[in-house]
Amino acid sequence: MRFWRVRPGGTYLDGTLGAGGHAEALLSLDPSARCLALDRDPDAVDAASERLKKFGGRVIVVRENFSNAQAVMARFGIPALDGSLLDLGVSSMQLDRADRGFSQIRSGPLDMRMDPTRGETARDLIVRLQAGELARVIREYGEEPHAGKIARVLKEAVSAGRLKTTVQCADLVSRTVPSGSVRPGRHPATRTFQALRIAVNGELESLARFLDFFPEMLAPGGRAVFISFHSLEDRMVKTGIRKFSRRCVCPNDFPKCVCGKPGILRETIRKAVRPSPAEIESNPRSRSARMRVAEKI
Ligand SMILES: C[S@@+](CC[C@H](N)C(=O)[O-])C[C@H]1O[C@@H](n2cnc3c(N)ncnc32)[C@H](O)[C@@H]1O
Repeated sequence: MRFWRVRPGGTYLDGTLGAGGHAEALLSLDPSARCLALDRDPDAVDAASERLKKFGGRVIVVRENFSNAQAVMARFGIPALDGSLLDLGVSSMQLDRADRGFSQIRSGPLDMRMDPTRGETARDLIVRLQAGELARVIREYGEEPHAGKIARVLKEAVSAGRLKTTVQCADLVSRTVPSGSVRPGRHPATRTFQALRIAVNGELESLARFLDFFPEMLAPGGRAVFISFHSLEDRMVKTGIRKFSRRCVCPNDFPKCVCGKPGILRETIRKAVRPSPAEIESNPRSRSARMRVAEKI
């Protein structure tokens, strides 16, 4: 909230509503603030709507991908925002519910869709991809050094009908990854699950689309806050902010500027903010979080 710099009577976008914790904090902080809150997960929308109903008409909750935020703003006649927030990744609610298929330790269908009404499940993805392509997904999105071997094991298991649940998947990965290569306190399948989830939900594609237009949504002085949990996402956010902060938007290999465009964003902090040891202790899932903030000029 401190980085968002809430302004009296401001209108804010929470693009990743989840359980509604950030939206509730915002609406409680300033009794005149309004919030447009999006989540693609129908369960999150239901739970957060219940939590936020005490704020009445100050909050609008919509089941939508944040990559369509501009269209939703237009639908509700919101011309500009005083701030936006993306708190990326999976929610505790999603991880904790076995039937959503995100958990390595609670057995459920190998699903992992944030919006369970559309798209392919993690199991469908493993069936569809060739072993090489699956290995690339696990290597790139999970930064998993044993991706090739894991992909082959998962492909064999799915063909033999031995891969239907999250725990079956986690067990197969655990038996494939050498124990010495797993960070203490981490489940051996964490990286693989992260990779499958990112691919199933097209998470990087949604973020890339948002990064293309987010400054247009902000009023002058409005701030965009990004919290990411993955180095790929953080790098995309950093590059996305810098693209609009530069004075010139010509490609790097142009010998001289032909666009004549001034920068439209200012990075309010140059380095990503990381959680304090106290924050990590109270919420261990925050340990890999990185926050970046940009302000519309
Ligand atoms: C880390 S949680 C957010 C937690 C939230 N800030 C809170 O205070 O409870 C991320 C949420 O973003 C949602 N989400 C992820 N990608 C999304 C997207 N492209 N569009 C809309 N919602 C998305 C997920 O469904 C999940 O509920």
